[in-house]
Amino acid sequence: MSTVQAGVGHSSDFTRWTSEFEAKVTARAAAGDPDWSRGARLEPAVVRSVQRFQVGESGDGANLIGKADRAGDPEYSAAVRLFIAEERNHARMLGLLLEAAGQPTISGHWTDAVFVRLRRALGLRVELMVLMLAEVVALRYYRALRDGCGDPLTTQVAGLILADEQRHVPFHCQRLRVAFAATSRPARLFAVAVWWSLILGVAVVVAADHGAALRQFGLGRTDFMRGVFGLFAVIVPSAIPLR
Ligand SMILES: [Fe+2]
Ligand SMILES: [Fe+2]
Repeated sequence: MSTVQAGVGHSSDFTRWTSEFEAKVTARAAAGDPDWSRGARLEPAVVRSVQRFQVGESGDGANLIGKADRAGDPEYSAAVRLFIAEERNHARMLGLLLEAAGQPTISGHWTDAVFVRLRRALGLRVELMVLMLAEVVALRYYRALRDGCGDPLTTQVAGLILADEQRHVPFHCQRLRVAFAATSRPARLFAVAVWWSLILGVAVVVAADHGAALRQFGLGRTDFMRGVFGLFAVIVPSAIPLR
């Protein structure tokens, strides 16, 4: 939670994020990859769940890069490229984790197809709002996977991904604050209301779709949704302040 709240300065300067993302690239190179050869043991429900998250992480990001470039802030564009590289690395690690468990990746899932189509149709601001829905779900999901899977390699991979996701949230919050700075209070209120209704729907779908895996982690569907809403309640005022 503290990491989510961090970085709530009101700057439109994104150099901080390029340096944080670059520092992480260096740290990752120094630490090396998890030892995939130790293998992983995953329950079938967890395999299906991880396969779907792997697809979700593997989007190419060209669309977001295009919108970021058109927004005309080179520093933000550079940070977005590093952000997307980090998400691709999540997909790569989850793919290798599945391989370590003797399981294939999947080529697509309807939830991801809907998500991608929705994001493409939108401008940068709304795209970031939709992307944030995935980030907040990811925060709760990878914590549950890390703490509840009972497999050492999976715990390590989930912990690495979770640490990145905790940085992604304040990064998007900062860009959203910039994007909403000139928006009237009623319009911001409307955006907040729509955003909350979207996270309600997304949390219900994810809880239903991944319910069996969440149960393996000792987390009920309601607990999962409550966790997502608790995180979102901190994110919303940071991204779209109403004062
Ligand atoms: Fe990710
Ligand atoms: Fe992320």
